Amino acid sequence: MATKRIQLPGQLLSGGSGSTPLTIEFPSEQPFLSTREHARFVEFAEACSHYRYIGVCHGRPGVGKTRSAREFSSFPDLQGYGAASVIAQPLAEKIARCRAIFYTVAVSNTPKTIDMALATNLTKMGYARLTVAAGSPEDISYAAARTACPLVIVDEADRLTIKSLEHLRDMADRQGFGLILMGMPGLEKRLSRYAQFYSRIGFVHEFKPLTETEMRLLLASHAGDFGISFDPTQIDAVEAQAAVIRITRGNFRLMERLFAQMRRIMTLNRVEDVNPDIVQAARDCLVIGPGN
Ligand SMILES: Nc1ncnc2c1ncn2[C@@H]1O[C@H](COP(=O)(O)OP(=O)(O)OP(=O)(O)O)[C@@H](O)[C@H]1O
Ligand SMILES: [Mg+2]
Repeated sequence: MATKRIQLPGQLLSGGSGSTPLTIEFPSEQPFLSTREHARFVEFAEACSHYRYIGVCHGRPGVGKTRSAREFSSFPDLQGYGAASVIAQPLAEKIARCRAIFYTVAVSNTPKTIDMALATNLTKMGYARLTVAAGSPEDISYAAARTACPLVIVDEADRLTIKSLEHLRDMADRQGFGLILMGMPGLEKRLSRYAQFYSRIGFVHEFKPLTETEMRLLLASHAGDFGISFDPTQIDAVEAQAAVIRITRGNFRLMERLFAQMRRIMTLNRVEDVNPDIVQAARDCLVIGPGN
């Protein structure tokens, strides 16, 4: 087979022919794929919620921790809702589905910033849950509302200062919610330096990348969601799929980035069927660090 030189996106900008359409892709979220790792996360989160324990979930960047936690928590936007007010039907349905409060720690955080965002949402969600259960906001006490949320998931927990961490522990103790701290590998070791916090940790969960088998299954059924399909009857496509699995090693973010480059290169070269050269060319455009 004669190998054709593949034109890369940078070459289009500097010296490509003006007739090639330049496609600009706007980032759009892929549909959620229910993986085995997500099922493991759900089991872990349900245990933290049930026993009201503190849990630590760590995993390498891009494996899907945030997406899984968002999917599990189904935390609705409460900005337009005032505590103890009447709840419209669409919001009531979202509140009934919500299983946890999802909170992303700001880069700069203090107990005060946590109170402004998380504590406010805890109170609102408490009132909302009790209102939905009772059918009316009347007779709901502040004390009952404050303890009505079973679980809080804190993302980017590596950013927490010692004071913020202490504040979260104090809130969890007083309000009796389960707490999941999510972050990078090493988070659990950092927490082990704070004895009082550490003694309350009930579960530690490692969020792993997809296995090779699961990736193969996923690419067979869902590669189209990423805008690429692999025809199992074509040797080039089968080899390309194997290369994608080898390069991305089950990391969702890498998969998204690799597929985006592949789509660009295929458009640029007017290629419709995927082959290993396209995958390699796309891989050469990416910066892949040791943490991925
Ligand atoms: N189950 C999934 N289905 C579809 N897309 C997913 C899934 N899991 C993750 N993704 C996508 O992969 C990308 C990376 O996922 P996510 O941000 O959750 O990773 P992360 O582990 O939180 O990374 P980081 O440690 O950098 O915060 C996101 O664009 C996300 O939408
Ligand atoms: Mg994340």
